[in-house]
Amino acid sequence: MPYNLTFPSGTVQYYFNSQFQELDEVLRDKTPIIITDKNVQKLHAPLMEGFPIISLPPGEKTKSIETVAFVGERLIKMEATRKTILVGVGGGVITDLTGFIASVYLRGVDFGFVPTTLLGMVDASIGGKNGVNLGMYKNMLGTIRQPSFILHDAKFLDTLPEQEWSNGFAEAIKYACVFESSLFEKLLSHDIQDFKNSPAALQSMIQRCAEWKNKTVLDDEQEQGSRKLLNFGHTAGHAIETTQDIPHGFAVSIGMIISCCVSERLLGLPSEVRNLLTSLLEQYSLPTSIEFNPDQVMNILKMDKKRTEEGLDLILLEKIGKGIIRSVPFQFIYEALVSFSNETRH
Ligand SMILES: NC(=O)c1ccc[n+]([C@@H]2O[C@H](COP(=O)([O-])OP(=O)(O)OC[C@H]3O[C@@H](n4cnc5c(N)ncnc54)[C@H](O)[C@@H]3O)[C@@H](O)[C@H]2O)c1
Ligand SMILES: [Zn+2]
Repeated sequence: MPYNLTFPSGTVQYYFNSQFQELDEVLRDKTPIIITDKNVQKLHAPLMEGFPIISLPPGEKTKSIETVAFVGERLIKMEATRKTILVGVGGGVITDLTGFIASVYLRGVDFGFVPTTLLGMVDASIGGKNGVNLGMYKNMLGTIRQPSFILHDAKFLDTLPEQEWSNGFAEAIKYACVFESSLFEKLLSHDIQDFKNSPAALQSMIQRCAEWKNKTVLDDEQEQGSRKLLNFGHTAGHAIETTQDIPHGFAVSIGMIISCCVSERLLGLPSEVRNLLTSLLEQYSLPTSIEFNPDQVMNILKMDKKRTEEGLDLILLEKIGKGIIRSVPFQFIYEALVSFSNETRH
């Protein structure tokens, strides 16, 4: 049975721990068109048989305004109307794109998600932020609109490449750091293989993370305050992601360590916390050090949307399980970046 969550911008029916085949019942009298990527389509073709499908090239480059135009034209050819429901079956690229297209096609049609990556299940499909990139500017065009349903089928994860598991766990570790020390403990006592071997533990971890994200979005859908907590590790992470081509979860992993360095300087966070987080990240094959140029990263941070006159709003840790939003002077951030980059070099 689904359970409903009502946000200011719409109600989402959640089907956790479900099967793709249940889509028939979820969709009932609606006319679906699946939007997916070619990897997912190839690996899970039998499941999607019988559905009209628009299949796109995999990868972040697909999340573009050109794809929106391409899909829009396909939808016209397929005679999609206001009765159509677009179903995004894929990772965050596909769900972000599907939500955006559904928000603007015919001034808005219904949409739902079947996230197929761990990152999609614990993060990207949740919260109603949809969007595409504009050149090098990530998520520059977007809307906030909730899908009418989110259905999880863990079978999709059977085909997920190892690196995508790590990417998803970076976000799970983020929730644990910011919200819940017992989730941190649970993650410490497992690794990727354990979770693959134990569907029940995996399901409960996914659901817990989804609950944290939902709760945060319910409190602050428009990101005026507490939703910013979800940015833990992301501000510095995005800056590093801009300077070098590394997967998102890897950048967030480094970003979380940098946030700990800043927390040590500003809040007196004990260095043991950083050591513990470092070992947890390594347990999930995530990087905890990287060579980078602090001046270059600092210049990118100075252009961040979240900058104020004197510094940046960063998410810091008071302790494991308790993140806080703090305006941090640029000087503190720079010193933390320099000392972290020196440690990395030695
Ligand atoms: N809207 C939000 O709130 C939000 C939050 C976090 C991230 N995001 C966005 O999500 C995107 C990243 O999501 P992602 O990591 O899922 O990326 P993705 O969609 O690119 O998927 C990663 C890779 O895994 C493949 N894949 C997907 N499902 C698979 C499966 N079951 N088996 C095998 N391969 C599979 C894809 O083809 C792709 O190559 C970014 O664009 C990011 O901006 C959005
Ligand atoms: Zn992220």
